[in-house]
This record gives sequence, C-alpha cells and structure tokens, in this order.
Amino acid sequence: MTTKDTISTTAVVGSGYMGGGIAQVLALHGYKVALGDVDGETAERARVRLVEQARDFEGSGLLPEGAAETIEGNLVAAASIEEAVEGADYIAEAVPEQPDLKASILRRVSGAAPCHAIIGTNTSAIPIGELASSVTGPERFLGVHWMNPAPFIPGVELIPGEETDPRVLERAEQLIQSLGKTPARVADTPGFVANRLQFALYKEAVQIVDDGVATPEQIDAVVANTFGFRLALFGPFAIGDMAGLDVYESAYHTLEKAYGERFAVPEALAATVREGNIGLKSGHGFLHVAPEHKAALLSHRDNAYARLAQLRTELGQAPGL
Ligand SMILES: NC(=O)c1ccc[n+]([C@@H]2O[C@H](COP(=O)([O-])OP(=O)(O)OC[C@H]3O[C@@H](n4cnc5c(N)ncnc54)[C@H](O)[C@@H]3O)[C@@H](O)[C@H]2O)c1
Repeated sequence: MTTKDTISTTAVVGSGYMGGGIAQVLALHGYKVALGDVDGETAERARVRLVEQARDFEGSGLLPEGAAETIEGNLVAAASIEEAVEGADYIAEAVPEQPDLKASILRRVSGAAPCHAIIGTNTSAIPIGELASSVTGPERFLGVHWMNPAPFIPGVELIPGEETDPRVLERAEQLIQSLGKTPARVADTPGFVANRLQFALYKEAVQIVDDGVATPEQIDAVVANTFGFRLALFGPFAIGDMAGLDVYESAYHTLEKAYGERFAVPEALAATVREGNIGLKSGHGFLHVAPEHKAALLSHRDNAYARLAQLRTELGQAPGL
C-alpha cells in the first residue's frame, strides 16, 4: 500500500471516554482531528466537553499553558463518520467493545477513508485478525490500544494483524512517539498483553472476595500498598528477578497444593531455576542485567520506591476511596 510520509490530518470515530482522550492528545500535538460519532450533535457535544476538560487540565497544571487553545484550534466535530474520515491520514476507532458494532463501523470507516489512511482500533481484547475481515484494505489496519485516561497513561500497545503492512506498523509507532507516548509492539492474541494480565489479576481478586478472605476495599489496599506499588515502576519479570525466582518457585508449590493446577510452577520458571538462574542474586533470571549494573539498579529501585512513597503522601488519599 502507499502510506503518506507524514500524518497531519486524523479522525477519531467514537468520541466517548477513550476516543475523547485520544483526540485531545492528537490535537495537543498539532494534528487536525475530526470527531465522528452516532451523529453530528453527539460529536459536537464531545468537542465542547473535550475543550472544557482541556481548560480544566490546563488550569490544574496537568497540561502546559496554551494547551486548551491548541486543542480547540485542532478539533472539529463532523456530521457523520464518513465526513470525519474523509481526507484523514490516520483514524482511531474507539466505539464500544461490541464485535458486531466494531465490524460495521470499520466497514464504514474503511469504505469512506482515503486508501492511504491508517486505521487503528482501540479494542481492549478483540483479536485484530478477527476485526480485519471487516476492513477494506486490511494491510493498513492494526490495533493501537491506549489505556485510560489516555492523556496521562504513557504506554500504548501496537498490535499488527497477520495482514498489517510492516510500514503501517512503523508509521503508527512514529505517530505514537510523536505524541510523547511509549509504544509497545505485541502479537495479536485476545486481550494482547495489558488486558490479559489485568483481567487475570481482576479475576483472582473477585475469587478472593468470593472465598471470604478479604473485602474489595481490603484487597485494593493490599494491592495499592504492596506489589501494585512496585508495578508503577517495574514489570513482573524485573520484580521477580529482584525477589529471587527460587522464592517464586517455592511459593507456587504451596499455592498449587491449595488452589490446584492454575497455580502450578510455570515450566519455564522451573527450568530457569534448575539452571541456577534465580535472578539478580545469581547473576540473572528471565532478564539479563549485566553484573556492573546490579548495584545501580537496586539503588535506583530503592530511590524510586522512596520517592513514590513521598509522592503518594503528598497526593493524599483518593477522594471517596
Ligand atoms: N474505558 C476504558 O477504560 C478503555 C480502555 C482501553 C480501551 N477501551 C476500548 O475503547 C473503546 C471505547 O470505549 P469507551 O470506554 O471510550 O466507550 P464509550 O462508551 O465512552 O465511548 C464510545 C463512543 O462511541 C460512540 N458510538 C456508539 N455507537 C456508535 C456508532 N454506531 N457510530 C459511531 N459512534 C458510536 C458513543 O456515542 C461514544 O461516544 C472500546 O473498544 C473499549 O474496549 C476502553
């Protein structure tokens, strides 16, 4: 396919919670954004809401001075989806997570968009390959998965489908970087990486409530103040390597006895431990941290945790929780 070297004009189809945030970020970074929704009035209401919200963000110092004016200058409401995507170089689809609805919207979007337009769906969990069958020109289609609230969460997953042109993936990556976000390429499977992990945790949390072990409030406090606190800075593999994979293996043995197969020691973890690679204390585990970086890493970790704890104290308790 022919892609344009530069993306300047964009459209966001579905201007709700996620689409609205994505539109604010695009507009803030100088891209023209046309909002498309069920009708022109809905899109216009979204435009007004997004500009007002941007003013609030700017007033609170969350966005730089002049941000709301820039956003307002770059954001327009379109009368229809077709009008929104006409002339767009990049289109973000963010309609509700219903496979049939997404399929019909993607059919309309790809039918009306210019041939060169890249189309990124914000689906939370539907495989890209499944949605691609509704897209005219599936080589220009991929998953571009933002997290909520889009203006403030740094990471965006990029999910190419089997048919996605590698140049489309590259362009999407450049676009995300130009927005000051951190892209992560992941393979096309249901839930991708972020939601597969997030939903596994959520399911176990609900099970703990059902088991009568702790209330939702108690679980949230435990997570936010213990291992979830670490997750603001490191992923599970860095944390595991710092803790020691021998410790993890022993814990899985205990958990498996109590809860069965779903807590069996993962084979790759057992193999790593068998080879004597139990994390930072042995040299490496799943990650390869060069020996000369080990002390600096631990010191960075301690500093980061202490600073994060201070920040949380400054921020105080979240209202209502
Ligand atoms: N809410 C989250 O935390 C979150 C996070 C990441 C990804 N997502 C994904 O983003 C997508 C949107 O979720 P959301 O939470 O922003 O939903 P939302 O309900 O806030 O927004 C959906 C928007 O789509 C519009 N819409 C509905 N039907 C339409 C149609 N036929 N034509 C055009 N527009 C239509 C709605 O009017 C609304 O503006 C979903 O795929 C969701 O899974 C959501």
